Amino acid sequence: MSTIVEACESKTNTTPEFPMGWYSVARSHELQIGEVKRVHAFDREFALYRTRSGAAVLQDAYCPHLGAHLGVDGRVIGESLRCPFHGWRFDTTGNCVEIPYCDEIPERAKIRTWHTREQNNEVYIWFHPQNLAPKWDLPLLGELDDEKWTAPRYAEFEVPAHIQDIAENSCDPVHFQYVHRQPDVPPSEVTIDEDGRTLHLRADASQSDFPHQLHAMVLNPGLAVVRTSYGPEAEMLVYNSAQPIDKHTTLLRWTLSVRREIEDLAGDDVMKGIIAGIGDDYPIWANKVHKHRPVFCREDKSLVMFRKWVRQFYIDVREVS
Ligand code: FES
Ligand SMILES: [Fe+2]
Repeated sequence: MSTIVEACESKTNTTPEFPMGWYSVARSHELQIGEVKRVHAFDREFALYRTRSGAAVLQDAYCPHLGAHLGVDGRVIGESLRCPFHGWRFDTTGNCVEIPYCDEIPERAKIRTWHTREQNNEVYIWFHPQNLAPKWDLPLLGELDDEKWTAPRYAEFEVPAHIQDIAENSCDPVHFQYVHRQPDVPPSEVTIDEDGRTLHLRADASQSDFPHQLHAMVLNPGLAVVRTSYGPEAEMLVYNSAQPIDKHTTLLRWTLSVRREIEDLAGDDVMKGIIAGIGDDYPIWANKVHKHRPVFCREDKSLVMFRKWVRQFYIDVREVS
């Protein structure tokens, strides 16, 4: 009888592609009217700009003419973007609308425009490998416009891990004990909506020193709204929207807002706690591989649910095209 020994998994042969969904590419205030930026996400280059009328536009970066990067020294002209190399101009749908030295525009003079939306003080891309239309909506965070809640506190963190592995962390109660050194991990439950789309994690910490209830809603890997209630006027919103940079790097954008009543207790300290928490996870993420077929034990129920749930976000382009 012979034993088959599996090849050692490296970071290159098992890491998945990018799941479809909504991902942030900038905070709204980072993109002023007339501003043009280069964005690296999904292992590609994009040009992001804001038109004179205020619309945020995300397009493929490379000019169809001779390949200049439109996000580097490109210029906003009204509702269009002008290439820095020879001045070709592209409108917000990606069509070339002017070649300054030629009155005939070639039919293939187009750049791909991605579905974008601006909400919750962020600019989002709907990522689908074939650039198909959005299949669901973004969450609307009413707290951010409510004067009973504090102005949002922001933090960004670049982590060396695939977006799926980071998202999986929230469905992993055991690691809180080992990695985050929490002596008592409150009982939690993972459920999935009937339509299969949204994953919920609820934790009941009514027995802890600061009794609270937590509800995390995960809309796609890297898009999570976490609401925690310590009592009627002691509520907290933590929002994470991520930007996959490449298959091994993810930028996390955190937004925190709390009821004004608890700002002094939960404002800065909670943000510090989030950053410290990511610091705990960091060495694990930086050195782990993505396990395509993990060995799970009977008690890993929420991890198993997560893995089933996350499959729907991957499109096999070979199958559908
Ligand atoms: S490369 Fe863009 S106009 Fe020539
Ligand atoms: Fe963690």
